[in-house]
Amino acid sequence: MFALAKGERLNKNNYMTIVATPDRIDTTPTSTAKTLRIGNLNLASRYCLSPLAGYTNLPFRVAIRELGGLGLATTELVSSRALLMGSKRTNEFIETCEADAPLAAQIYGTDGREMGEAAQWLEHYGVAAIDINMGCPVNKVVKNGGGSAMMCNAVGTTALVKQIVESVRIPVTVKMRLGWDDQNLTAPRLAASFEQVGVAAVTIHGRTREQGFSGPVSLAGIRAVVEAVERMPIIGNGDVRTIAGAERMFHETGCAAIGIGRGALLNPWIFAQLCSSECTGELGTIPSYDDHLRFMGRHFHRLVEQRGERGASLTFRKCGGWYSRVLKPGKELHLRLMMLDGVADFEDIVSQLRAKGPPVTWKAGEMPEIGVPKGPISHW
Ligand SMILES: Cc1cc2nc3c(=O)[nH]c(=O)nc-3n(C[C@H](O)[C@H](O)[C@H](O)COP(=O)(O)O)c2cc1C
Repeated sequence: MFALAKGERLNKNNYMTIVATPDRIDTTPTSTAKTLRIGNLNLASRYCLSPLAGYTNLPFRVAIRELGGLGLATTELVSSRALLMGSKRTNEFIETCEADAPLAAQIYGTDGREMGEAAQWLEHYGVAAIDINMGCPVNKVVKNGGGSAMMCNAVGTTALVKQIVESVRIPVTVKMRLGWDDQNLTAPRLAASFEQVGVAAVTIHGRTREQGFSGPVSLAGIRAVVEAVERMPIIGNGDVRTIAGAERMFHETGCAAIGIGRGALLNPWIFAQLCSSECTGELGTIPSYDDHLRFMGRHFHRLVEQRGERGASLTFRKCGGWYSRVLKPGKELHLRLMMLDGVADFEDIVSQLRAKGPPVTWKAGEMPEIGVPKGPISHW
């Protein structure tokens, strides 16, 4: 049934699977930054890369890890069923390599047995943890009872989670929202039940499903989850993109760790900066315009290694919008990034950006506004 055997290489490139053994999945802290323990995993920092479907793929994760400070990364959500059926596209989503550890794989589904099997497969494949998606608001996922719809059925969902926990030896975590809507803030109760059945950590995006990505993140809502559990670490998530934002998240919620998604697209140095700030009180690297260009180059060329020139260009078109927010390249180069057509095109855009230099309004370290998926949630 499985598409890949244990330890099998995924493709002809240098990427290969990693096989976890109990003494291989720990990462050794390299600085005095505070560490985080999730089940049997010791993470080098309390800062995690939140999954962003279409963005936080292997090339991006490796490029970010090189900058330092990242405790744990998670793949984007993958369907348990598609994984077990050996879907080529799903295999690409979970592709990893030695430099990409520790990695959690995020699964979604509605059938505990099937999700348990997928978790077992991923354990053999070599990931360090399994993350269960209970936050996805998208119709395609919730209409079958998956993603954030799971937050509406405490008893059934806890039983399903228990089945997955019992299927594997590696830690199982859950990522969820505050609840379906303001009338159904089920996260505290669910987190407490999950702790009882052996879940190792829970990430809370401090919005409801109904909110989508709009409105403020409720730090009080995250705090209610922290207070509902005994010892299980809660990872606070939502709109953190500066040191001050992270400090506020820790201070007002009491969370053990922080997950950052979109902030890392805009500032891939954020994890290193958070650790530096924790250790020395200083930001450390404040990336220059050229640093951003170099990072973009590493990201794109890794995508080419993984997906070939055509696939990389198509994937990178989505990322072009995020890079444009930071680099402010002007309309023409922005459109070319969004319609990227191969390596030569990329190199030409970069050399034009380099020649042009930073915009007059450039201020190193400044964070632009974060974009959110648009339109009414019922249309997602
Ligand atoms: C484009 C996009 C894709 C996302 N994909 C996933 C996903 O695959 N799994 C998941 O649990 N959350 C996903 N999320 C939610 C994020 O992980 C995170 O919870 C949310 O963006 C809030 O955190 P942030 O403000 O740091 O980005 C996604 C969000 C966005 C904007």
